[in-house]
Amino acid sequence: MKRRTLLISTVVAGALLGTTAMAQDLPPLEQKDRYKVGFAQMESNNPWRIAETKSFHDTAEACGWDLIATDAAGSAAKQVADVDSMIAQGIDVLFLPPREEKPLIPAVMKARAAGIPTFLVDRSVDPAVAKPGEHFVAFLGSDFIDQGSRAAQWLIENFDGDKGIIVQLEGTTGSSPANDRKKGFDDAIAADDRFEIVASQTGDFARDLGRQVMETLLQAHPDVNVVYAHNDEMAIGAIQALELAGRKPGEDVTIVSIDGTRDALQAIIDGKMGVTVESSPFFGPLACEVMKKYAAGETIPEWVKVEDRIFTKDNAADHIDEAY
Ligand code: AHR
Repeated sequence: MKRRTLLISTVVAGALLGTTAMAQDLPPLEQKDRYKVGFAQMESNNPWRIAETKSFHDTAEACGWDLIATDAAGSAAKQVADVDSMIAQGIDVLFLPPREEKPLIPAVMKARAAGIPTFLVDRSVDPAVAKPGEHFVAFLGSDFIDQGSRAAQWLIENFDGDKGIIVQLEGTTGSSPANDRKKGFDDAIAADDRFEIVASQTGDFARDLGRQVMETLLQAHPDVNVVYAHNDEMAIGAIQALELAGRKPGEDVTIVSIDGTRDALQAIIDGKMGVTVESSPFFGPLACEVMKKYAAGETIPEWVKVEDRIFTKDNAADHIDEAY
């Protein structure tokens, strides 16, 4: 399988989050051949999470990591406990994708107190409480507000009906991608009065819950003709629910989503889904690069921003072989 390296924007958080992270304010990281590295995954219930964990494992040897990887199985409390255990095992560096914005703040603070440089990967924590450049080194990840906004923009440009009745399937409540993908989409779609969001409910980023929620919402809103899902797994679940109800996704219901999984690209090729905005899980190489720069004393931007592509019927077939 072809793997792509995440594209990093040269635009960093300076404009959005304030100053750049100064290495001297944060725990130092020695330059050495091998590092004990912690990667505290939140769950492994979808292809995105599995691909992200694999990316860390695949990077480990080449980057000199003795990797301790855990799986919190969907529990923020277990993810905090997993970080506690990594601190006790003496990790040099922590890579943490916080399941939710607030419950994972204690893990960030404890790693900081233990003198362990921490990089948040793919999701962030509440920046009003835990700050990059102070409590953790940096956030490596996508602009989730922009992803939601791009999904809405595609819809505005490609929906050819008079009235778009939208059901929104939200990600995990309290997580940064759910908060930001909702904000980006809601703000952008409000500019076009053809559209109305009639329901917005969590499907926890999970396929089966997405299917169940869609089944319920279809009964309350049988006239729905647009589904915006915060990730591809819920979009696929929604497609299943729609088909079971005799609807024709791609014909009488437009599906827009985020991630770029193999199943989503196939659904686009099959004409069932309109668009998926990329959110790449392949963080291992980027984590290695940023960690090495940090150890060398380079200034790390507070937000190492990943650039995302967009997949539609025009390019899905070109990218399905690199998908996960
Ligand atoms: O944080 C990124 C999101 O989390 C992905 O969109 C989703 O699939 C995953 O579970």
